[in-house]
Amino acid sequence: MEFITVTPNARPQVALIQLNRPKELNALNLQLMLEIRDALRELDDNDKVRVIVLTGNERAFAAGADIKQMAGRTAIDMLIVDQFSTWDQIRKTRKPLIAAVSGFALGGGCELAMTCDMIVASETAQFGQPEIRIGTMPGAGGTQRLTRAVGKARAMEMVLTGRPISAHEAERHGLVNRVVPVGQYLEEAFRLAASIAEMSPVAARLAKESVNRAFETHLDEGLHFERKNFYLTFASEDQKEGMAAFVEKRKPEFKGR
Ligand code: CAA
Repeated sequence: MEFITVTPNARPQVALIQLNRPKELNALNLQLMLEIRDALRELDDNDKVRVIVLTGNERAFAAGADIKQMAGRTAIDMLIVDQFSTWDQIRKTRKPLIAAVSGFALGGGCELAMTCDMIVASETAQFGQPEIRIGTMPGAGGTQRLTRAVGKARAMEMVLTGRPISAHEAERHGLVNRVVPVGQYLEEAFRLAASIAEMSPVAARLAKESVNRAFETHLDEGLHFERKNFYLTFASEDQKEGMAAFVEKRKPEFKGR
């Protein structure tokens, strides 16, 4: 890996992927995105990992797709390279994925954070879709995920003016889970990850699928999907263990089976 570092056991059962292209503010070139895709595939298949944290550094989570790499491309080059198809793998990650964001989360950087399941932000984080300022528009989910998260009026303003919002604004509008002082955002993401890693991974996977379904279907189909997944948890040893532990007044030990 040239542009990211991967630590499968950053914390017990919690893996860390760190973007590592600091001089370019973690601009997302093609190779970096392929590396994220490959790392996520591996961590998703690793039984010792239950939750994955994705982060950048204090100055930048990521300042967007790599403008220098894209600048001279034709539409047909873009179509053939189809760089954003790599991003589908991120969306398909089965394990909970938390973005720990500090500094710039712009363009593709904002979209990458929004592709994760939750966002923990430092007070210095700023989220924006500035593509309009360079004569283009979001292409990796910005117009869709931002609108679902913050609503039409705010998303429209951000996408049409390119103006970013602060971490606190993002928290107020439901884009991020919590905002903490800059020295603490990664630890806070690990804390959140650890509290999820204690749960049944089987239940977490089915619950994640079900929450995501809320954005992809109508209510009737979503409720049906949820109910099936709820019933399916009763096929797991973890459900038996969880309920037995409740009755026996002890802490459950989930095995992911
Ligand atoms: N692509 C390529 N290089 C980038 C970059 C990007 N998105 N963002 C920053 N860099 C590079 C800069 O070119 C600079 O490199 P050099 O030192 O070689 O000149 C280095 O990172 C540091 O950046 P700045 O000197 O510009 O730092 P700054 O503190 O003055 O400004 C910034 C920071 C406001 C984030 C500014 O860099 C900026 O505006 N970046 C571009 C943001 C942007 O437009 N993102 C959207 C990209 S398009 C996209 O993402 C499409 C999509 O939907 C996926």
